[in-house]
Amino acid sequence: MCGIVGYIGSRQASSICFAGLRRLEYRGYDSAGIAVIKDGELTVRKVIGNLNNMEDSLENKPLEGAIGIGHTRWATHGKPSVENSHPHLSCDGKIAVVHNGIIENYQELRKQLTEEGHAFKSQTDTETVAHLVEKYYNGDLREALIKAVKDLHGAFAIGCICSDSPSELLAVRRFSPLVVGIGETENYIASDMGAIRAETDKVYVIDDDEICKITSAGIEITDLDSNPLTREPYEIPWPADAAQKGGYKKFMLKEIHEQPDAIHACLAGRLSAADKPITFENIGLTEDDIKGFKKVIFTACGTAMHAGHVGRFVMDKVAKIPAESDLAAELQQRDPVVLENTLCIVVSQSGETADTLEALRAMKKKGAKVISVINVVDSSIARESDGVAYIQAGPEISVASTKAFTLQVVTIQLLALYFAEVRQSCDTAELTRLKAAILKTPDDIKKILDREDDIIEVAKKFYKMPNALYLARGINLPSAMEGSLKLKEISYIHAEAYSAGEMKHGPIALVCPEIFIVAVVCQGPTYDEMIGNIMEIKARSGPVIAISYDGDEKIPLTGADPDADPSDIAGGPNEMIYVPRTEEYVSPITIGVPLQLLAYHIADLRGEDIDQPRNLAKTVTVK
Ligand code: M6R
Repeated sequence: MCGIVGYIGSRQASSICFAGLRRLEYRGYDSAGIAVIKDGELTVRKVIGNLNNMEDSLENKPLEGAIGIGHTRWATHGKPSVENSHPHLSCDGKIAVVHNGIIENYQELRKQLTEEGHAFKSQTDTETVAHLVEKYYNGDLREALIKAVKDLHGAFAIGCICSDSPSELLAVRRFSPLVVGIGETENYIASDMGAIRAETDKVYVIDDDEICKITSAGIEITDLDSNPLTREPYEIPWPADAAQKGGYKKFMLKEIHEQPDAIHACLAGRLSAADKPITFENIGLTEDDIKGFKKVIFTACGTAMHAGHVGRFVMDKVAKIPAESDLAAELQQRDPVVLENTLCIVVSQSGETADTLEALRAMKKKGAKVISVINVVDSSIARESDGVAYIQAGPEISVASTKAFTLQVVTIQLLALYFAEVRQSCDTAELTRLKAAILKTPDDIKKILDREDDIIEVAKKFYKMPNALYLARGINLPSAMEGSLKLKEISYIHAEAYSAGEMKHGPIALVCPEIFIVAVVCQGPTYDEMIGNIMEIKARSGPVIAISYDGDEKIPLTGADPDADPSDIAGGPNEMIYVPRTEEYVSPITIGVPLQLLAYHIADLRGEDIDQPRNLAKTVTVK
């Protein structure tokens, strides 16, 4: 789970690689390295820690050369250390390799290469690749790399340079993402398009077992039998500055604020008016498929799973298809019976999450039709699915997912309503109401964003507390789960989410003045029961932040001072966060936003490194 980048041209490769690594930092940031070639000499720079250390190192001692490769690491084999950082070198120091993925048979290769006289310096799986290329190198780097990857089992995207072949950059992939950026008199490689978008808007998306020989003048793509392959360039649809912070303090905050526009992009071409039918292109399903489905299973990891849990409700209630949702890792273990006419909907921002990809493959093997709800175009999950509904969120850089969650929920809601139209499973008036509510969500979210200062005031009152409990019922239970995940990921506050219906079965024992409770109380069938839960918490001196609709009169703000004894507050919550009223089934789209802002501002007040939370990586490409 790392990021790779490479450059060949006439500019300083280290600057271009460094800029690319900055944009790949979300893939891991425990160490980084860059290798360049100048005047036939290969030089490597490696640093521990995030890329600020690399920036300082390059400023103090520039690294010169017009060809180079770079890597930002998230440790899998071997602890973060200089030795284990990429690029890894051959014994003679002439060949350098960067790698994202896992070489499964590295131990046996390492043993064999050691017996053949190769000396290893790291504990990594990647170093075997450098030695293998050295073993096979006979003046033709491409041939050597082909032979090397034929020996490898596992997943890899590899960039490779050699000081004896200083005018070519090699790249190859199997099961790990790789793109080649197309320039005029220079070219690039990267783990994803965002890394090189500032340099070019055209890339080749590389497929499994394809190898690229890249010079400053051209790009040759072949298979591993050296058969030439032709490829249409893919035009990156995002503007060059889309991966920058755009004036916000953190990417996470920028991405929270991008949500209204992102929803417009997601709805475009699919839902134009409440009285018009929904259209979906390329989802790989015929109307007969949709009419015939007897079951839908949502699967994903983390935040994407919370969006899938929302999907379970809407598929069931609106499309009238029995639906379930199961974590990708659990779904594989559970090995469920898959009957005929089962649809599996796989949800993933990156489209590269290892567990999700495996769950997809397992469900396909069992005969389910698989479609995916994805952000990153042409990612592995997208390509292995029978059809894809892209969420159109644009790049999400912050490790903590925000706009991708919201857009996943929007896309899943659209899918469910589309299915309902095809299956005629929902009355027209209700469909029209739900579509109108979805069309209104960008404005609703803008109103919530305009109230950010109020949420900051709430955050100021609770940010020092060590524990939080998120409560909700029904379709907003996934919203509570997502809110608590956001808080724990970026603030390190211990936070859990529970169905409020479970309170008396255990969690109520936690209630005390030191744990703040976030309760989602939007009006709907669960409203009165949620109010009952708040009363019970208040009776036990628990401080409560309630999220409810504008104009809610039943549970008004009591104006409590959090420094005062919370048990003095008769019944009502300590703090209210209001959101625009909407349809119950659409509410998870908007309810997520104040929960994101609350988590962000609590973490900010605690001074945490919000865009790079400890121990986390944006894309989890290992199991
Ligand atoms: O790229 P994916 O959506 O498949 O990623 C799934 C999870 O790893 C991801 O949502 C994770 O939980 C995030 N850190 C959430 O903020």
